[in-house]
Amino acid sequence: MKKNILLTGGTGYVATHTCLELIKSGFDVILFDNLSNSKEACIKALEKATGVKPKFVRGDIGNMDDLDNLFNMNSIDAVIHFAGYKSVRESVIKPMKYYKNNLIGSLNLLSVMKKYNVFKMIFSSSCTVYGSETDKPISEDTPCLPKHAYGKSKFFIENFLQDISLSNKNWRTISLRYFNPCGADKSGLIGEDPIGIPTNLMPYITQVATKKLKILSIFGKNYETKDGTAVRDYIHVSDVAFGHVLALKHLELTEGSLAINLGSGIGYSVLDIVNTFQKTTDIEIPFKFIDRAAGDASIAYASIKKAKKILQWEATRNLEDICKDAWNFQKKYPNGY
Ligand code: WQD
Repeated sequence: MKKNILLTGGTGYVATHTCLELIKSGFDVILFDNLSNSKEACIKALEKATGVKPKFVRGDIGNMDDLDNLFNMNSIDAVIHFAGYKSVRESVIKPMKYYKNNLIGSLNLLSVMKKYNVFKMIFSSSCTVYGSETDKPISEDTPCLPKHAYGKSKFFIENFLQDISLSNKNWRTISLRYFNPCGADKSGLIGEDPIGIPTNLMPYITQVATKKLKILSIFGKNYETKDGTAVRDYIHVSDVAFGHVLALKHLELTEGSLAINLGSGIGYSVLDIVNTFQKTTDIEIPFKFIDRAAGDASIAYASIKKAKKILQWEATRNLEDICKDAWNFQKKYPNGY
């Protein structure tokens, strides 16, 4: 019997790529989403890419009836919980929005899972839980001191998963702490399609490349990094997606609650990204420098020892692949799905 996996926030960016990898690996999937930051059109694209039309249920993790109906109508083996707002900078301005949706929605989901005896969860967490300023690779043992509502909301949920796992041996959870997922599936059929003006770097760059946006603003030029711009760990979204398949398999072998970094292990500056994009695509990206953004760390890149050891996972695609694939998707869908 095929395992049936529920993806909350299922039509979002990382979720659609994970859906594709799950289908390729022989799982059935249900995508649950309120479409607040994604479009239903990605389902058609997923069908084209896999030959399978994933089941879609429109609903909200903030609504207990939606969740109850979902679990009542479907037999679910495990949940990958992506649903949540994800902008660091927006969370500084609108903390309530982040606590309400990310925290309360997750508590709703976990209580309905318990009601229906579904105890396995992969949680979409983030490197922002660390909040640390270090020029060393960040390992999972680094103390977590998140600095903004987004990072704190992720960290609280991770803590909650630990506590429920201690209280009841049935629970098995893995929090995957993503660094900066970007790029798109190699087919160009699915990719990152933010609603409105992108807040993340790579989709902003690809929209400057199509001339939809005029110029990239680089936030800060006087960080203590090699060229003064902030350093991050950019990881291909298809590698991140496959990490979920391996984590799901690992849940069969483990007990309790774990947190694992998903990153490339390499730090690149904003200017590295702009230069690599220009070189890979032969398109010029005009940019200007503006002030640092509130909540932004200067440098963050992963230690990936734990992912290698526990999941036998590591990045298989590099920064050129990320730029090439992100551009391939944007060219195919200049106005999104
Ligand atoms: C990257 C760099 C910006 C836009 C993200 C996610 C968060 C997360 C961690 C998981 C930063 C700079 C950006 C722009 C810029 N975890 N930048 N101009 O802030 O690291 O956070 O990764 O999923 O959910 O949001 O990523 O892509 O927004 O920014 O100069 O227009 O690019 O300051 O240094 P960030 P990002």
